Formats: sequence, structure tokens, C-alpha cells
Amino acid sequence: MTEEEKLKRFNALIEQDEKIEPKDWMPEAYRKTVLRQMTQHAHSEVIGMQPEGNWVLRAPTLRAKKILLAKIQDEGGHGLYLYSAAETLGMDRSEMIQQLHEGKAKYSHIFNYPTLNWADIGAIGWLVDGAAIVNQVSLQRTSYGPYSRAMVRICKEESFHQRQGYEIMATMMNGTAAQKEMAQDAMNRWWWPSLMMFGPSDKDSWHTQESMQWKIKRASNDDLRQKFIDKTVDQAYVIGLTVPDKDLKFNETSKHWEIGAINWDEFWNVVKGNGLCNHKRMAHHIKYHNEGQWVRQAVLAYSEKINAMQSATSL
Ligand code: 3HC
Repeated sequence: MTEEEKLKRFNALIEQDEKIEPKDWMPEAYRKTVLRQMTQHAHSEVIGMQPEGNWVLRAPTLRAKKILLAKIQDEGGHGLYLYSAAETLGMDRSEMIQQLHEGKAKYSHIFNYPTLNWADIGAIGWLVDGAAIVNQVSLQRTSYGPYSRAMVRICKEESFHQRQGYEIMATMMNGTAAQKEMAQDAMNRWWWPSLMMFGPSDKDSWHTQESMQWKIKRASNDDLRQKFIDKTVDQAYVIGLTVPDKDLKFNETSKHWEIGAINWDEFWNVVKGNGLCNHKRMAHHIKYHNEGQWVRQAVLAYSEKINAMQSATSL
């Protein structure tokens, strides 16, 4: 097939909502941007374990500790699915990790905010995982096959993450005045950064147009953000939390909640590395990645030995 015929076939697959599989021909720009998004998604899952890991030893009950442990283990598994799915695009995960460590790849800015107390664990589960679910449910229909299938599996676990966070917030809002104050303080600190998770507004997003054309993204940043807001504002009111936005109002015509201005300077400042925890998160990731070198070497040595034995017996 000529390059032109290959491109025609690729475009027809996208047009017909077919999945692009690893062995299919794809434009290099498509491969690059899907690889970019998947690796950054995988990095986010793994680095996202840090803020929550901080609270396993300080969980208020054994039940809370078990739930948090299960959630953190899920996130690690999500990272592994996504690294494996991303490797089908021709980059080894060691190279992906190196790009992360060299600042050439991003992870979600949200994980550069500190977790100050137990209410933050509730806010992360309810708001951060809640936002991730809205984004990831949409990504179940992404055009790249391995990414879409990884999303289907990940979304099954995310709803548990969101519910356990909401349960923590509801419990605290049913508690003492001090607990109510902690929950509201966490809401005030995590609400706006959670809205920023969906990325810059559509007019400032430099990938959205192409990603929508190639059906990598099935909805725009602003559309997904709005979906999350409409779902979450009511949940806040049900448990007595106040949304920290003096301009918030419900539009009876559009039936959407309208919000005040998002502080995009804060967003880009954190993305650019000036958040409260950027250095801490990266230093931690590099430290433990290096300390884990022996595990990776042992696993590789073992698999090479098994392969050698299998090929020897099959001769
Ligand atoms: N944090 C850091 N960087 C961000 C960002 C964020 N919240 N939102 C956008 N950016 C970056 C983009 O990566 C891009 O930079 P790049 O060209 O260097 O990659 C730039 O800002 C412009 O943004 P665009 O909107 O044009 O970029 P995308 O089209 O990639 O859209 C996205 C951004 C919506 C985050 C998209 O990449 C996406 O859907 N990614 C998959 C989902 C994901 O990564 N979620 C992160 C959280 S995972 C999570 O929460 C785990 C949960 O279990 C807790």
C-alpha cells in the first residue's frame, strides 16, 4: 500500500469508530500524541500514590486503613496497565520513566498539592478520583485499542475510589464541629485544583482539536469539566459542604452550574514545577525507582533464565 492508501485506511478506521491496534499503520503524529497522553496518565497514577501513602499509618480506623491500602494498590496497578498499554507504541517503560525524571514528561498537577489531614484523603477520593472518572469514562471510547481497554478495566475500580472518598467527607460532615471544619477546609483547598485536572480551557488547549479529530479525546476539556461540576456541586450540598466559589450559580435555562474564573496562573505555575510538592514528589519517585533497580534486574535475570531453559528444552 502507498503512504496515501495507508492514511486513507487509517482515516476510514477512525471514521467508522474502529479501534486502532498496535499493528495498524498510524500517522507518526497520532502515535506520538497517544504515547504522550498514555505515559503521562501512567506517571500520574503512580505519583498519585504518594500523597495518599502519607496517611496509611495515620488512618483513623483499621477499616479506613484497609480501604486506603486497597485504593493505593489499585492506583499502582492502573499505572502498570497504562505503561504496558503505552509500550505497544514502541517505547520501553524505562525510557518513559527517564523522560519523567528528566522533566520531559508530565504528570497531573493535582498530585503536587499537600495532604494536610485525613479530610484531604476524603477530598482526593471524592474530587480527584471523581474528576478522573469523568475523564476516564470518556476515554473508554478512545480510538487507540489498548488504551480504551485499559480504561474499561480502570474505570471499574475508580468508582470505589470516589465512593470511599465521599463516605469520608460525609462522615466528617456528620461529626464534631472540628471535623466539619476540617472537611470544609479540604473542600476549599481541593475544589479548584480538581477542576484544573481537565486541562486548560478549550481555547488554550493545543492538543484538543487534533485529539478530537483522531477520536483520542471523545469530549473536550471544558465539556468534561462541566460534567464533573454538574455532578459534584449537588453531592457537596447533600452533605452540607459549601462550594468555595462566590460566583457559583445554577442556570435554569442551560441546566448547568456556572462557576467563577479558574486561576490559570496557579495551574500553569504548578505544571511548570512551582507547586508546593513538585520537588518532593519527583525526589521520592527517583529515590525509590533507583532503590528498586535490584528488583527489576532480578526479574529480568529470572525471565531470561526461564526463556533460555524453555528454548533449550524445545530444541
Ligand atoms: N496537569 C499537568 N499537565 C496538564 C494537565 C494537568 N492537570 N492538564 C493538561 N496538561 C498539559 C498537557 O499534558 C499538555 O502538555 P504537553 O503537550 O506537554 O503534554 C498541555 O497541558 C496542554 O493541555 P491539553 O489540554 O492541550 O493536553 P491534552 O489534550 O493532553 O489534555 C488531559 C490534557 C485532559 C489531562 C489529557 O491528557 C488526558 O485526558 N489525559 C488522561 C487522563 C489523565 O492523565 N489524568 C491524570 C490524572 S490520573 C488520576 O487522577 C488517577 C486517579 O486514579 C487518581
